[in-house]
Amino acid sequence: MGKPLVLGNWKMHGTQRSAHALALGVVARAAEFSHVDVGLCPPFVHIPTVAAVVFGSAIRVGAQNVSERGEGAFTGEIAATMLRELGCTYVLVGHSERRQGYAETNAGVVAKYVHAHAAGLCPVLCVGETLAERQTNATETVIESQLEPLVARPDVVALLAHGVIAYEPVWAIGTGETATPAQAQSVHAFIRRRLAAVGPNVAQSVRIVYGGSVKPVNANELFAMPDVDGGLIGGAALKIEDFVAICVSAEQLRRGR
Ligand code: 13P
Repeated sequence: MGKPLVLGNWKMHGTQRSAHALALGVVARAAEFSHVDVGLCPPFVHIPTVAAVVFGSAIRVGAQNVSERGEGAFTGEIAATMLRELGCTYVLVGHSERRQGYAETNAGVVAKYVHAHAAGLCPVLCVGETLAERQTNATETVIESQLEPLVARPDVVALLAHGVIAYEPVWAIGTGETATPAQAQSVHAFIRRRLAAVGPNVAQSVRIVYGGSVKPVNANELFAMPDVDGGLIGGAALKIEDFVAICVSAEQLRRGR
């Protein structure tokens, strides 16, 4: 596995003041998880604040969304080049809250992925099934369809070698219900197998992180799974102690491997 990655998705939370304090709290503890790549993804308007706090540390900053287009007359959108200029390393694309609430399509998400990568960002492609889809045994079909526009393009598949995929079952997001380690492992392994079919090297090096109610109490067992390379953390990323504890879990497992 690659270096573990833990990303905090702050969603639409916080003030300039709280964003500053949260970033400062994480930076202050960075020595406790020095073998883990850690990124904070605040709302767009807090990016400069967080970027200033993490500057000079090993903590990176990311965004939660990006336009699928380059700079132009697109009111309300943010171009990948703008995020890069602000110092972003990561950007989430295709989070389920955007797919569901803002009608993002699989094809549009891939367009975002390509744009973000071209601008020098590391896009994090989010995939995951709903509860109804899991209950009807459609999980793998859904993940397959979310990956399809990516794997159909050899140029994009090659980008995934240094990329990140986040598996976030929709039913586990913000619900307090977490996928069992076995459920997470099974889908992560499926994603890796699917990518192996189009690029064996890609499948080896892509990092697949799990998201969905990751907390200090369950991070260890999730990160212990062989195909789980880290986590995408929502609610628990808003509390310094919880987020740090999760990063430390990733650090300990890396040491144990
Ligand atoms: P929670 O950790 O709050 O379930 O959110 C997960 C998530 O959506 C991260 O992107």
